[in-house]
Amino acid sequence: MPVLGICYGAQLLARELGGRVDRTGRGEYGRTTLRVRSPGPLFRDQPAEQVVWMSHTDTITEPPPGAALLAGTADTPVAAFGDPERRCYGVQFHPEVAHTHWGREILKGFLYDVAGCRPTWTHVSIIEEAVADIRAQVGGERVLCGLSGGVDSAVAAALVHKAVGDQLTCVFVDTGLLREGEAEQVEDTFRRQFHMDLVHVKAQDRFLDALAGVTDPERKRKIIGELFIRTFEEVAARHGDARFLVQGTLYPDVVESGGGEGAVIKSHHNVGGLPTDLRFQLVEPLRRLFKDEVRAVGEELGLPEEIVWRQPFPGPGLAVRIVGDVTLERVALARRADAIVVEEIRRAGLHRQVWQCFAVLVGVRTVGVMGDERTYAHPVVVRAVTSDDAMTADWARLPAEVLERIANRIINEVPGINRVAYDITSKPPGTIEWE
Ligand code: XMP
Repeated sequence: MPVLGICYGAQLLARELGGRVDRTGRGEYGRTTLRVRSPGPLFRDQPAEQVVWMSHTDTITEPPPGAALLAGTADTPVAAFGDPERRCYGVQFHPEVAHTHWGREILKGFLYDVAGCRPTWTHVSIIEEAVADIRAQVGGERVLCGLSGGVDSAVAAALVHKAVGDQLTCVFVDTGLLREGEAEQVEDTFRRQFHMDLVHVKAQDRFLDALAGVTDPERKRKIIGELFIRTFEEVAARHGDARFLVQGTLYPDVVESGGGEGAVIKSHHNVGGLPTDLRFQLVEPLRRLFKDEVRAVGEELGLPEEIVWRQPFPGPGLAVRIVGDVTLERVALARRADAIVVEEIRRAGLHRQVWQCFAVLVGVRTVGVMGDERTYAHPVVVRAVTSDDAMTADWARLPAEVLERIANRIINEVPGINRVAYDITSKPPGTIEWE
């Protein structure tokens, strides 16, 4: 069995095969320069020096006997090793993230040259196949679909609607913590454009009441998650005849949860862990697709660009972008500042190049001067990152003029904000969100 160990996997492999792993006190986090010593199948036809992304504390100090040292960095003597005899390879860095410039080539090298795989899988008319599958699964039964405003649930809903039309009811829970224009966009697209049966639950007061006085990020998440489920359950109870529930599960989610073909909900993370007594059968039309394929299907189905290319957004919404108390006023400030960041980045034509961009409201005050007045008001932190999968991220090198426009507009248009800071932390060591 050919093996490619990545990060901890490489350390484990090195140790199991008789090499050494030590705590040298010289971990590496984020962007690192790799020096290739011996290309072999992993680094063939690649530059001898290349950018890779690291996240490790322990270090491989000796490759296993019989394995060749393939590459190192300034702080890690063995950043890649390989034993062609046993077809065992290990890389300390992460070839699977976009910031590792040659990552895809390295993975191809392992898959094609070491493991002997061939790239023969292609998808022909995903939509027709999905529509036929959905019809076969659902027959004449009723189907429910939770819409979040994001691309996955939107594409899943559009596919199911194409397959079974009026048998589908969509449920959109507006927590009051969404981005500017999101609820209107959902209404516009699904009710007016697609003529879907849409239940729009306006639950802002309920969510804000439950969050009153809560500052701990994990408690915020828990409260929102539970309330979301309760709200969804109430709607589901009113649609007791529905036997099927649509989920926008993607292939990476399937892999993460063990790749099973489970048909009945346990506690699936995609809908915030809906309880087991909701005895729905799942319809998951995207379960063999990656995000870029989902977007292509969405465009083909005629979903608007704003939805298809919407940036990822955390389930707990603006609540985890407001450090401290979540009040109606603070949500309004965060939402407006956020919209300005997105608008300006769109206007600069950079929207598809950044993975996420947003504003964070922090709970401190700073001194400023506006007109003749001294101000003592709140700063906003702007965060914009590039990423491929949110596992790692780098801060986006936005042009100074774009940052300037964002800062000017926020200070002039959002009352109570007198300072704008830009977050230049990569992930790791930071996370994308602030909470
Ligand atoms: P972090 O902040 O961990 O975020 O770097 C990685 C990605 O996940 C999103 N995120 C969440 N999504 N519920 C979600 O559905 C959450 O509680 C949550 N927290 C973070 C985040 O926006 C980023 O895309």
